[in-house]
Amino acid sequence: MQALIYQGINQKAVEERPKPVIQLPTDAVVRLTKTTICGTDLHILKGDVATCEPGTILGHEGIGVVDSVGAGVTTFKPGDRVLISCISSCGRCEYCRKGMYSHCTTGGWLLGHRIDGTQAEFVRIPYADTSLYPIPQGADEEALVMLSDILPTGFECGVLNGKVKVGSSVAIVGSGPIGLAALLTAQFYGPAEIIMVDVDDNRLEVAKRFGATTTVNSADGKAVEAIMALTIGRGVDTAIEAVGIPATFALCQDIVAPGGTVANVGVHGVKVDLHLERLWAHNITITTGLVDTFSIPMLLKTVQSKRVDAAQLITHRFKLGEIMQAYNTFANAADTKALKVLIEVA
Ligand SMILES: NC(=O)c1ccc[n+]([C@@H]2O[C@H](COP(=O)([O-])OP(=O)(O)OC[C@H]3O[C@@H](n4cnc5c(N)ncnc54)[C@H](O)[C@@H]3O)[C@@H](O)[C@H]2O)c1
Ligand SMILES: [Zn+2]
Ligand SMILES: [Zn+2]
Repeated sequence: MQALIYQGINQKAVEERPKPVIQLPTDAVVRLTKTTICGTDLHILKGDVATCEPGTILGHEGIGVVDSVGAGVTTFKPGDRVLISCISSCGRCEYCRKGMYSHCTTGGWLLGHRIDGTQAEFVRIPYADTSLYPIPQGADEEALVMLSDILPTGFECGVLNGKVKVGSSVAIVGSGPIGLAALLTAQFYGPAEIIMVDVDDNRLEVAKRFGATTTVNSADGKAVEAIMALTIGRGVDTAIEAVGIPATFALCQDIVAPGGTVANVGVHGVKVDLHLERLWAHNITITTGLVDTFSIPMLLKTVQSKRVDAAQLITHRFKLGEIMQAYNTFANAADTKALKVLIEVA
């Protein structure tokens, strides 16, 4: 089968690989129909994720059709259409029993990281019963690709951790796919104000279309003043960090109102300052986390009922044979205006 291989820092290639086989009774092999590329795949290629070995097939998002199952799999059978979670969970360990699937002692983020992933014709899914989700009849399968990672991440790590409430004020720093997913799902809770921040005017325009009440381009270094003016000097109840650099975490600390929450979503590669000398008396909460994807079944219903339009995140479409071009398009988002690139496998 064809697959996209991480070969080392800044090196990737399409290679012919053997079709994966069932290794444990709890495995399934899924034939991919659609997959996509994540910002995290670019982090791997930059060398930011040392735990990903060269030779690994990349990708942790996608949908497909079950090809074969191990003897212990009871929920799925060959021919079933399934949504793949980016997080594999055994469903039994202490963390899985708490819904913290990303910390599963034998699972977690495995696909396209510690084991071969979804940017291929077939993928082996460990703990298939608890890591795959059935796709309802007649579902918009393109939209569902956004449920493997992007939508649950924005929702769980941004909106839920950030305690977005009716009538509250929210600022989302970073309007990439994750920040936009937080924007879409924050609207379930009816906040009065959602301020989107980015340095890319195109992404801020998209944010306006997706429901932002205001946008702030922070490139001039005056975002704090702008957001304080918008909130009459108070700051926001929820500040969601969706970039992953010190400057944007600093901005969140500067704009969070007393009693508010800073919900960190961004993956940070370097040390970041925490200004307790200013914040110690402000009753704020800071949350962190890797997505667990416990919200996939709920989000699937909201996509099905058209409460949220997840497909609007897709800006480009490619075939698996064009995946190198898809990577170029995705990696040059400032020029190509790419958000999510959909890769049709079959
Ligand atoms: N916690 C989790 O489970 C989890 C899961 C997936 C992704 N992530 C992380 O979430 C972050 C966002 O992901 P993404 O795919 O949307 O990334 P992305 O790179 O597409 O988007 C980041 C956005 O931040 C903007 N930006 C850059 N510098 C900025 C600055 N100084 N001020 C304001 N905006 C700035 C960029 O223009 C871009 O639009 C990444 O760090 C990613 O690794 C976390
Ligand atoms: Zn991802
Ligand atoms: Zn577990």
